[in-house]
Amino acid sequence: MIETAQAFGIDVGGSGIKGAPVNLNEGKFADERLRIPTPSVSTPEAVADVIKEILDHFDVQDGTPIGVSFPAPIKPGKPLDYMANLDQSWVGVDIHALIKERTGRTVTVVNDADAAGVGEAQYGAAKGRDGLVFLTTLGTGIGTAMIMDGVLVPNTELGHLTLKGIDAERYASDAARSREDLSWKKWGKRLTKYYQLLEHLFSPDIFVVGGGVSKRSEHFFPYIDITTPIVPAALLNDAGIVGAAYYASTKQH
Ligand code: BGC
Repeated sequence: MIETAQAFGIDVGGSGIKGAPVNLNEGKFADERLRIPTPSVSTPEAVADVIKEILDHFDVQDGTPIGVSFPAPIKPGKPLDYMANLDQSWVGVDIHALIKERTGRTVTVVNDADAAGVGEAQYGAAKGRDGLVFLTTLGTGIGTAMIMDGVLVPNTELGHLTLKGIDAERYASDAARSREDLSWKKWGKRLTKYYQLLEHLFSPDIFVVGGGVSKRSEHFFPYIDITTPIVPAALLNDAGIVGAAYYASTKQH
């Protein structure tokens, strides 16, 4: 792995698994990231093998902190008890043990939205901000991270609030936009309902929006009608990788 990298981040998503070495001084990739499509049957073994392929590709050295951001609530030392958007055979799996077995590496696993939240708080749109920062990722699902005065409250899972009688992410994620071929305006109206609900329940000081679609925020932000300030993630879709790498570095002492 190249010299300026002090940690490695991997982001496991519903459509792609992405990894890059990270320069922790700058909160940036130290080399071009590698993206491999998520296996169509996304079993634990298949996903762990892609993680291995990415680590091998970059020749990640032993001792380098490795963070894996993952789309499920993560309680260290406990098996996964819920999986929304990857294969259901993940339920009951000890993800740390599985990755160790398939790759020979010890990694730090963190919920993907929490990783993005930590990345944004450390390097991005929420850097140095007090109060309640509420990060949402809009992708295959909706992920949430709550950071109060710089401290993460992990595993909030508020993409699964009920909205219009269904799981909010079924109604308002970026996948819902594609699946139902919604215009930016129509999707923006749905997002308004979602963000108004969060506003009402949590009174955040700012919303930060991550996920692949955050780079196109000018198309849909104008349609989100809320009073709380809302900004795109400064690291855009890289926040998960950078945040996971940073998070792993803070756990490895
Ligand atoms: C999962 C969360 C995840 C989010 C974004 C949701 O369906 O339950 O754990 O953070 O999707 O990937």
